Amino acid sequence: MTKDEILKKHKQYLFPSIFTYYSEPLVTDHASMQYLWDADGKKYLDFFGGIVTISVGHANPRVTSKIKAQVDKLQHASTVFPNEAVVALAEKIAQITPGEISQSFFTNSGTEANETAIQLARIHTGHYEVVALRHGYSGRSQLAQGLTGHNTWRKSLPGAHGVVHALNAYCYRCPLGKTYPSCEVACAKDVEAVIQTTTAGQIAAFIAEPIQGVGGFVTPPKEYFKIVFKIVKDYGGLFIADEVQTGWGRTGKRWFGIEQWEVTPDIITAAKGMANGVPVGGTFTRPDIAASFKGLQISTFGGNPVTSVAAKATIDLIEEDRLMDNAFTVGEYFRQGLEDLKQKHELIGDVRGMGLMQAIEFVKDLSSKEPAPRETAQFMEECRRRGLLIGKGGLFGNVVRMSPPLNIAKSDVDEALRVMDDALTAMSPAGVGAGKAHASR
Ligand SMILES: Cc1ncc(COP(=O)(O)O)c(C=O)c1O
Repeated sequence: MTKDEILKKHKQYLFPSIFTYYSEPLVTDHASMQYLWDADGKKYLDFFGGIVTISVGHANPRVTSKIKAQVDKLQHASTVFPNEAVVALAEKIAQITPGEISQSFFTNSGTEANETAIQLARIHTGHYEVVALRHGYSGRSQLAQGLTGHNTWRKSLPGAHGVVHALNAYCYRCPLGKTYPSCEVACAKDVEAVIQTTTAGQIAAFIAEPIQGVGGFVTPPKEYFKIVFKIVKDYGGLFIADEVQTGWGRTGKRWFGIEQWEVTPDIITAAKGMANGVPVGGTFTRPDIAASFKGLQISTFGGNPVTSVAAKATIDLIEEDRLMDNAFTVGEYFRQGLEDLKQKHELIGDVRGMGLMQAIEFVKDLSSKEPAPRETAQFMEECRRRGLLIGKGGLFGNVVRMSPPLNIAKSDVDEALRVMDDALTAMSPAGVGAGKAHASR
């Protein structure tokens, strides 16, 4: 098919709600490691990795060779038959997850991983209500949309029952109008106020992303989750860390983002980067919590041998090549480059993130902090033109999200920064406003 035929059929045969980036959608053709090529043969440096999913490079042969071998050996049997691939993966996850987490339930997506976690927390605690965070994103199902604190992604009605939302720790736009550290992390205490005033006083769970992904890589102060953890325990809840974006070394030095905040969660959910792009999700917890589910469960594709092999190969590669350390070192280097860009270009109001999960927030004016979604869209177009793929997020669609593979080098960062610098320089005031504001994902 030609590029035009693909675009025409995409419009004709897929749901129109499936939005695409760019004024002219980018039709993908093939990819290798940190590069992706479009249908016109143009090469891009990929700093978004299919929405924070390509952990070890596109089509990394150390992962794909194992997938190919497994496809030829046994592709599918369902959860009613044990297989070596799924137990090897579950054993590996038990070894690297924090605390006493040692049992897994595998699914097909992050949405399902969160559904599984909430259901389990409700059964285990005997409580129903769940506290989630504003600006958070939990997935696409009815429950996951109800957990989500971001109107763009909550379109279906009605929302999930028994979910309340506390303030998030968004220092650049503090919901309480305070400044860190003199604020004494007052936003964390809102979790208690929300429990006391909008629930029956006992909760099933608190769910949060250690760094809010779709929300625009909103990174809390280091004390935040420790304070929240204690509140959650005081009110009988389980602490669920949604590691769909922050897991598997992305934040540098540690396997999971929540470990950066020195909190040991009761349940971890994951997907995206876990299998380098092969669809898999997982809910991981302690045996006493997993055992609370007394009935039977099935997941046709959960723990599929091919996806399990892909996940195990990805995790092994991250470990063998010490990519968590690389994410830290190259991430720090990237961060410094972004801070330098901020000094040079007034459009950048904030730089934040951790490891190889970095974001810049665009504002029209540094003092009013008025969000600049059109300029963000234009910036993405300018970067695309120069061969760099980046992502977008934030409640106002004004945050550029960058999540390259964990095995990139400093030279890749240099190239990305050069493109971004050129793009910002090219965005003359006359051009500002020409871009079309897209949905913020
Ligand atoms: C933090 C987080 N949780 C859950 C999900 C849902 O995952 P999926 O799209 O695989 O259902 C996402 C997806 O973007 C996410 O970022």
